[in-house]
Amino acid sequence: MTKKILKFPKNFSWGVSTSAYQIEGGIINDWSQWEKSKSRIKNLKLKNKNPEDFICGSACDSYNKYAEDFDLAKELNCGAFRLGIEWARIEPQEGQFNLEEIEHYKKVLQSAKKRNLQVVLTLWHWTNPIWLSQIGGWTNKKVVSFFIRYVKLIVKELGQDVDFWITLNEPMLHINHGYIRGKFPPAKKYNFLGAVLAYRNLVKAHQLAFNRIHDILPEAKVSFTSLNSYIEPANTINPFDVLIVLIAKYFYYQKFLKQTRQYLDFIALDYYFHNRLSCFPPFKVNLNKEINDIGWEIYPKGIYYVLKDLSKFKKPIYIMENGIADANDNQRAKFIINHLKYVHKAINQGIDVRGYFYWSLLDNFEWADGWAPKFGLYAIDKKTFKRIARPSAKIYAEICKNNLIEVN
Ligand code: BGC
Repeated sequence: MTKKILKFPKNFSWGVSTSAYQIEGGIINDWSQWEKSKSRIKNLKLKNKNPEDFICGSACDSYNKYAEDFDLAKELNCGAFRLGIEWARIEPQEGQFNLEEIEHYKKVLQSAKKRNLQVVLTLWHWTNPIWLSQIGGWTNKKVVSFFIRYVKLIVKELGQDVDFWITLNEPMLHINHGYIRGKFPPAKKYNFLGAVLAYRNLVKAHQLAFNRIHDILPEAKVSFTSLNSYIEPANTINPFDVLIVLIAKYFYYQKFLKQTRQYLDFIALDYYFHNRLSCFPPFKVNLNKEINDIGWEIYPKGIYYVLKDLSKFKKPIYIMENGIADANDNQRAKFIINHLKYVHKAINQGIDVRGYFYWSLLDNFEWADGWAPKFGLYAIDKKTFKRIARPSAKIYAEICKNNLIEVN
C-alpha cells in the first residue's frame, strides 16, 4: 500500500522536553528530602518496593552532561530544546542567591544557543527549595513575592538566551498530587484548604510573572504548561457520568486556563492520555486495550479533540510534552506518528499548532514512579550515564529532518 505523506508547516518547531530535577542530579530540594523521609520509605516497603529505586540522586547527570544532551537533540534534528532551571539551586536559602549556579545556567543556555537550538525555559517544575516548603510551600501567600523575585533575577541574568518561557509546569498536577492524592510532596491527602490556597497562589504567581517578564523583555513569549487529557463519560447517556466529566475538566484545566487567559502569549499543551469516567467504581473505564508500560491508555485521536478545544483561545499552540513509557521501544515510534497524524489533522483544519516536543530526550527520574518508567528516546546506563539511542530515536530524527510523517 502506498503511504500518504503529511507535511508540517514551514518553521514548525521540533523539539524534546526535559526538566531540571528529573535529569540534572545532585539537587537538594523538597523532593529529594521527601524521597528519603521515613514515612515515604515505610510506604514503599509496605508495597514491597525497593526505596532505592525511588531516589533521584545523580539522575542523568545532565548538570555535567548538558552539552552532550544538546548534541543528542541535534542528532535528532531538533531545532528546539525545553529544559528547566532549579529554584533550589539558585536560592538555597531565602533571599540568598547562588551566583555560581546562575553562571552555570548561563553556560548551559549558551551551549544550547551555540548549537542553534531554540530554548524553552521552565522556571518551576513542581519542586521547591526546602526553606519554602518549611513555611508551607505554595499555600503560604508569601510564595508569590518570593517566586517573582526569583523570576526577575532569572529574566535579567538569563533572558537573552531564552526564546519561550514556561512559568509553571502543570500547576494542577502539583495541587492534585500534593494536596488531594498525597502522591507528591507535601504529600497531603484530601487537604482541600491547602489545595485552594496553593491554587490561588499559583494563579497569581503566573499572572505576575507574565507581567514582570514582559516589563523586562517586552517581546518575550510566556505561558505555563497545561496538562489536558481527553476526558469522556463512560456512558454518554448517564447524566452523572456526564456531570463528572464536566467537573473534572473544569478543575483539571479549564479553570486555570480561564483565569490566566489574558496572561498567555501561547498555549503550552502537555498531552498523554484519555480517560473515560464513570460515577460507579472503579470510576475509570478503559475500553482501549492499548496501554503504555505504566497503564496509561494510548489514544492519539484525543490530542486532536484537545487541540480543537484549545483553539478557542485563538493563540498559537505548542505541544510541549507528549510521550510514552515504553522500555522495549515496541510502541514509541507508532505512538509518535499516530499522535502527529492527529496534530496534522488539526493544523489542516486551521488550528495554529506551531511545535511538537517529545517527552523525553532521556530515561529520567519519573517522580513518584521512580526509575522504572522509560520515556526516553535515549536510555541511560545508570553507572556510566552513557546515553544509548533507542530505535525510535532514528525515526523521530527522520520526522524532524524531513518535517513530515508517512502514514498508511
Ligand atoms: C510531567 C513530567 C513527567 C511526564 C510523564 C508530565 O506531566 O511534566 O515531568 O515526567 O508527565 O509522567
